[in-house]
Amino acid sequence: MKVTIVGAGAVGASCAEYIAIKNFASEVVILDIKEGFAEGKAMDLMQTASLNNFDTKIVGTTNDYSKTSNSQICVITSGIPRKPGMTREELIGINAGIVKDVASNLLKESPDSILIVVSNPMDTMTYLVHKTTSIPSSRIIGMGGALDSARFKYRLAEALESPISDIDGMVIGGHSDKGMVPLTSMATRNGIRVSELISEKRLNQVAEETKIGGATLTKLLGTSAWYAPGAAVSSLVQSIACNHKKVFPCSVMLDGEYGLKDLCIGVPIVLGKNGIENIIELKLNSDEMKNLRESAEGVSMTNSLLDI
Ligand code: LAC
Repeated sequence: MKVTIVGAGAVGASCAEYIAIKNFASEVVILDIKEGFAEGKAMDLMQTASLNNFDTKIVGTTNDYSKTSNSQICVITSGIPRKPGMTREELIGINAGIVKDVASNLLKESPDSILIVVSNPMDTMTYLVHKTTSIPSSRIIGMGGALDSARFKYRLAEALESPISDIDGMVIGGHSDKGMVPLTSMATRNGIRVSELISEKRLNQVAEETKIGGATLTKLLGTSAWYAPGAAVSSLVQSIACNHKKVFPCSVMLDGEYGLKDLCIGVPIVLGKNGIENIIELKLNSDEMKNLRESAEGVSMTNSLLDI
């Protein structure tokens, strides 16, 4: 299993590191436009192999797409990250051109690959890849919901004073501060609805903290986060590579599911060797459905800024 990651920045490099540590891929290629940068990250990571016990070969390249050929999965992290105070949507102008070129270059070398889009504004960048390539919808996946759900679980565990492994929960909707829809009514601690364990007020606070999870980190770090984004991508890659068919909320093209059409937004999917094996339609309550519809309106508005 060969995986390519475009962008050797913090998210791309963490993603490579977590994939290597999980030891399921034979090769990870990291590609970046900055001379020598991906080679340096790859070398540094390879020097952790004997310490972290992995056999995955990590290769870096400066913009040489021939090194990526025959990848089964390609991850697009390239583009600029947001700075404190910026929204993900503000990155559209620069990132759209980059993501479009990167997707086209990747598919020339690996026409059968599954693409995972991470660059922001992620739902719109995923939509752009759909509109500018001709590969099936099942092979284009936006990563946002897996990360937002991990942040949701972190906040729930904090509120419940519980270990995170006790918690299950999901965030659907757009990967934006306003667009995320944390499904508080379905979240559980070991099968017990969390709504039975903490007050509605505290649960709403958890939802609000989750929605601004990325912005909170951007403010603290001065740039956007990388460990949890990298780990979230590596989980999606592993489910595809190992055909685990795990369920993750991901940004996918909808064609009538949830009453939505012609946009990419986060909903639960089964992720296996073919990419999207199945889109799951949850029975949402009326508030959740209203929030998802509003989120979709926001995503569509951002999509309308694309020059396609
Ligand atoms: C974040 C970026 C990856 O939420 O969108 O941290």
